[in-house]
Amino acid sequence: MGKIAIIFSSLPFLLCTILMVAQAEDPYLYFDWKVTYGTLSPLGVPQQVILINGQFPGPNLNTTTNNNIVVNVFNQLDEPLLFTWAGIQQRKNSWQDGTPGTMCPIQPGTNYTYRFQVKDQIGSYYYYPTTGFLKAAGGYGGLRVNSRLLIPVPYADPEDDYTVLIGDWYKQSHKALRKTLDQGKSIGRPDGVLINGKQGKVGDEKEEPLFTMKPGKTYKYRICNVGLKNSLNFRIQGHKMKLVELEGSHTVQNEYDSLDVHLGQCFGVLVTANQDPKDYYMVASVRFTKYHLQATGKIRYTNGKGPASNALPEAPTGWVWSLNQFRSFRWNLTASAARPNPQGSFHYGQINITRTVKLVTTANTVDGKLRYAVNGVSHIDTETPLKLAEYYEAADKVFKYDNIGDDPPANVDQLDKITLAPIVLNFKYRDFIEVIFENHEKSVQTFHLAGYSFFPVAIEVGTWTPEKRKNYNLLDAVSKYNIQVYPKSWAAILLTFDNVGMWNVRNECMERAYLGQQLYISVPTPERVLRDEYNIPDNAVLCGIVKDMPKPRPYTP
Ligand SMILES: *[C@@H]1O[C@H](CO)[C@@H](O)[C@H](O)[C@H]1NC(C)=O
Ligand SMILES: *[C@@H]1O[C@H](CO)[C@@H](O)[C@H](O)[C@H]1NC(C)=O
Ligand SMILES: *[C@@H]1O[C@H](CO)[C@@H](O)[C@H](O)[C@H]1NC(C)=O
Ligand SMILES: *[C@@H]1O[C@H](CO)[C@@H](O)[C@H](O)[C@H]1NC(C)=O
Repeated sequence: MGKIAIIFSSLPFLLCTILMVAQAEDPYLYFDWKVTYGTLSPLGVPQQVILINGQFPGPNLNTTTNNNIVVNVFNQLDEPLLFTWAGIQQRKNSWQDGTPGTMCPIQPGTNYTYRFQVKDQIGSYYYYPTTGFLKAAGGYGGLRVNSRLLIPVPYADPEDDYTVLIGDWYKQSHKALRKTLDQGKSIGRPDGVLINGKQGKVGDEKEEPLFTMKPGKTYKYRICNVGLKNSLNFRIQGHKMKLVELEGSHTVQNEYDSLDVHLGQCFGVLVTANQDPKDYYMVASVRFTKYHLQATGKIRYTNGKGPASNALPEAPTGWVWSLNQFRSFRWNLTASAARPNPQGSFHYGQINITRTVKLVTTANTVDGKLRYAVNGVSHIDTETPLKLAEYYEAADKVFKYDNIGDDPPANVDQLDKITLAPIVLNFKYRDFIEVIFENHEKSVQTFHLAGYSFFPVAIEVGTWTPEKRKNYNLLDAVSKYNIQVYPKSWAAILLTFDNVGMWNVRNECMERAYLGQQLYISVPTPERVLRDEYNIPDNAVLCGIVKDMPKPRPYTP
């Protein structure tokens, strides 16, 4: 008996060792990106957009687990630029995470080469620009990580794999919107919704289809909300969507008529062409708003005869529906993830919590200007990126660690007075931490944590107390990188902070992040060794106070 146990428990370890040896030969994928402005009319009026190699949205990055990705970005805009690869964990490598707290921006007229590995990940992701509110002009695109051939995937190979980027959209330029924000005002409601850069028009028979399907075949659609402000509902006329993947994890395969896709979230679904051969509309429409905005796009059967019906399926109403849908998402415990061992072999529910951090979001004005805050502090970016200040051992000149408390006052009125400062929490390497997001506002908020995926163990109405842990899902919460928090509700996530680096936590509502509702989590290297973190890349752009400082001694193996 004892022997068998040993054999079984060492099997995953052996497999890991084999894969780590193979890692030395992991293939490289090279991309050159020319980033420019262009003029397009996604809502019918010409406006400035961002093109990557002439494309809007940007090109899809089609990668496979453990590939090394090399993207040489030529910034031909008139302002600084950074891209983030949302959900890509950048293990030991926050140097490439592309947020203003981790990297100096790529100056106009220059280029920078991102180098990172999509290590031990599978699934659906996307990238976007993080500087200067540029996302309002596009610059985003899909990023998929395919499973390696030797890893079983819990569904048959689809006929094709389609990326569907949905998001709300403004007619104003990113500069005009930024000016409004800099003046301390909200940018208000968007003007429309786009699906892959197009709004679509119901009943326009000349409109070209976005996708085609062969009758009887099954397709994978990866749906991501790349918008600025709104949760969207996504649905396809006459077709069910079988959910197979959610933000990098295989799920229990339930079927849905429609999905609420909150800001920054990605779903992988299977759709079978099993209806009458004709055209069908896919619809993305705003949720939880008094106004109605939508985009449509056509799917055409290759043997199709006839246009799509103009009767679009209705979106659900209210956010309770959305909460119930969230609760139906379950991790498939027996499916393999990026490695052959089952996802469920990581028993997150049995690990003791070492620290609990509650993050309460508020909004108020400071000197007459709108600001959004976390635990009473509104984040400001610093000229010297936080990560570089820390690496050069000059953190004390740039920011203070733990300048917000773990346990803000229960009475949110006490958080009314907002102060401005860079927010940096200091987490100990490998601690298992519980983060509570508490939303006292009337709108749904969505939060992203860079560098990790986490277990969203509960979303509930009201305020959090330690007794709520009784109701956590400690078995099959889907490991993911984004979490929504409904109005007057809270959400709890659990994870091990085992990735050294400086990691951004942000509200995916870009207006709120821009006006301060974000922070950084520093997981410092305990020993400055390469086992835990890579050295700063040779080509790193330097700026602020570290520009002329001597380079720190490199990490040792
Ligand atoms: C994406 O990559 C996979 C694996 O290399 C390949 O089979 C597939 O054809 C690629 N798809 C596209 C659209 O390039
Ligand atoms: C800029 O691009 C050139 C190739 O055109 C490359 O050799 C160089 O390394 C790039 N610079 C950076 C900082 O990545
Ligand atoms: C979970 O994944 C396994 C493959 O390991 C598959 O056979 C099974 O059908 C999946 N279960 C559900 C409920 O989707
Ligand atoms: C968790 O904490 C309990 C109570 O303090 C202790 O008995 C148990 O051994 C701990 N478990 C682990 C895995 O450390």
